[in-house]
Amino acid sequence: MILPRRTFLTNLQLSIVIFGIALSPVWAQAGEHKPASAWMNTALSPDERAALVVKEMTLDEKISLLHGTGMKGLGPMSPLSVKSNGGAGYVVPIPRLGIPAIQMSDAAYGVRMSGENGRYSTALPDNLAGAASWDLDAAYEYGALIARELRAQGYNMSLGGGVNLAREPRNGRTFEYMGEDPFLAGKMVGQVMKGEQEQHVIGDIKHYAMNDQESGRNAVNVNIDKRSMRESDLLAFEIGLRESNAAAVMCAYNRVNGDYACENKYLLTDVLKKDWNFKGFVLSDWQGTHSTAKASAAGLDHEEPAEIFYADAMKKAVEAGQVPVSEIDDHVHRILRSMFAAGVIDDPPVKSVVDVQGGFEVAQKIEEQSIVLLRNEHSLLPLDASNAGSIAVIGAHADVGMISGGGSAQVDPPGGNAIMPPGKGNTTWQAHIWFPTSPLKAIRASAPHAKVQYDPGTDPASAAALARKADIAIVFAHQWESEGMDLDSLSLPERQDDLIARVAAANPHTVVVLETGSPVTMPWADHVSTILEAWYGGSRGAEALARVIFGEVNPSAKLPITFPKTEADLPHPSIVKPPRASTTNDEPDAWKKIAAGLPAFQITYDEGLKVGYKWYDAEHKEVLFPFGYGLSYTTYNYSDFKVSSGKTVRLSFKVTNTGNRAGAEIAEVYAALPESAGEPPKRLVGWSKVKLDAGESKEVAIEVDPEYLSIFNVDRDAWQLVPGDYTFLVGGSSQNLPLKESVNLK
Ligand code: BGC
Repeated sequence: MILPRRTFLTNLQLSIVIFGIALSPVWAQAGEHKPASAWMNTALSPDERAALVVKEMTLDEKISLLHGTGMKGLGPMSPLSVKSNGGAGYVVPIPRLGIPAIQMSDAAYGVRMSGENGRYSTALPDNLAGAASWDLDAAYEYGALIARELRAQGYNMSLGGGVNLAREPRNGRTFEYMGEDPFLAGKMVGQVMKGEQEQHVIGDIKHYAMNDQESGRNAVNVNIDKRSMRESDLLAFEIGLRESNAAAVMCAYNRVNGDYACENKYLLTDVLKKDWNFKGFVLSDWQGTHSTAKASAAGLDHEEPAEIFYADAMKKAVEAGQVPVSEIDDHVHRILRSMFAAGVIDDPPVKSVVDVQGGFEVAQKIEEQSIVLLRNEHSLLPLDASNAGSIAVIGAHADVGMISGGGSAQVDPPGGNAIMPPGKGNTTWQAHIWFPTSPLKAIRASAPHAKVQYDPGTDPASAAALARKADIAIVFAHQWESEGMDLDSLSLPERQDDLIARVAAANPHTVVVLETGSPVTMPWADHVSTILEAWYGGSRGAEALARVIFGEVNPSAKLPITFPKTEADLPHPSIVKPPRASTTNDEPDAWKKIAAGLPAFQITYDEGLKVGYKWYDAEHKEVLFPFGYGLSYTTYNYSDFKVSSGKTVRLSFKVTNTGNRAGAEIAEVYAALPESAGEPPKRLVGWSKVKLDAGESKEVAIEVDPEYLSIFNVDRDAWQLVPGDYTFLVGGSSQNLPLKESVNLK
């Protein structure tokens, strides 16, 4: 990867800042007349620079780059980790050679662990929400904001970039991923990574691969055929890496077709490094390493967070001839070239004050583009702020905050958990954390003349009584989820279905606002006027929501994941749970058992290629809300479809805003492959977000690379375009595609 050439090297000739301490440049330490280390020459490529460093390194120095130094709560910590910046991972520097430490932090929807480190981070809307914007610029901004805050807090590597496909929507990490379609997820995560790396932070895509449920994640063996894996799950990673050149890939906890992902030669070497030509490095998920020689030969470059297999054990293995030095050199080269390529050696982070206001603005803007309008009978929304009458706000702690996603993605809210007394209730593992962004306050601020009253919703009868007296009832419902757990079901927890049904029965003008990390079922859907999916809205969720409710923002987001009618319609109606022997149940030192390897249990993805909408399409199952679906306060019309083919397929069509309000329509393009390809009915192959004033029309042109029309031919181990008739379908959701044209491709 070649990032834009940097021009700040002259500053570097004055000093290199490592750990916030200004050190003299290495060449100055070595003597007045010595020229700068050859690898500090930015005219050389990252590979050339890395090769020059590797030549100078001792075996001990090389091995020091191949592992972390411990992590709080996952001891033991190396004494060297005193210099850690407080994040999840710390790799020691090599001052003799001017190589800085790698300071890694989790950063899925914002920088983690800011609370215990006495810092502040912005919470963006969750990753699934970001995907709902289908907005590549917003995705870039998402990554750039995270990277700016990482750098301000002293980190040079991010551990975000979750892009596992939502095969299992009850997965407790669904909110950390980008939905069910590899094309959408790959393009979006690619922009997030690009945004991070262009601020000179090492980007990392995770969890490679097939880590689609949390139950038994350290033991499960996922059985999947190669074609399904290449065309679905792995394709999301492939596109993400291609679009961004992300420098790191985190291999997953689980096994895939028999081998742990972090010692899986097919995944790490055959596909990632050879077929995709990935130049960066692979690091293990935290205690996802299980061997030394096997993992190294399979392509694992770096162990996190501890030093069990890749420190002393690695040195011994090298000395015993079990791991060739050339393999070590390749691991080290990959790590160093990634540091040069991402710019963290030439432009190390300097701690500074996080731009809180700037973060709010970005978080709000992205949430405004991510809230999906799922239903709006009789155009109940937008409300007229100057004439809103009385509004009952009900449920989900909407008086104080909005829920966020837990686990290693958790961002710490300023002031602590909003539902606790100020300063109390810091984030702890799997605590349900509400961010201090109050829908009640935001609604009152937007409609100062309205009578806005709140009921906590804990007693449905009292909530219904308040709703009955009001002109409009806005009922909030939440579904919390986190790493380390899966949802028991897709039903709203805590009897919120009952609450909504009672409120809807009391007031015909009921708006439901969902704060969920996964799809939910909605037995009350036909009885409410309006449904908004706000996801985990981030630091400014309430303000964004109020602007949607009162029409300052016209919703434009579309679902990146199908909302099924019932769990019975999922490819796997129940989650496969691990047997007792394959779990650790939070025992002390559980990680030691995990490192040694827990007995495998099996999941078989027999739905194969039919992930998400492809499953419902193929199985003719009616859904609650389809993939790609989302309403607006205006309406759009599609016309004038033309398709022509050459090296790529070129499509053009017209989108017209037929309503009386400006908006942005996400126009989606799907392709149905020839029958002989043996594919699900259709796949997403392109989209465009079209901004249109009331009454305005625009011509949209989309080029489809034949690669995205291909299938993976396992016998040839290659992508193949199957000759035949391809039908292109265009419209505003996967189930509303008014334009249709076929073309023959050879
Ligand atoms: C998670 C990773 C995370 C790591 C470090 C693991 O438990 O699966 O996503 O980056 O911890 O916190």
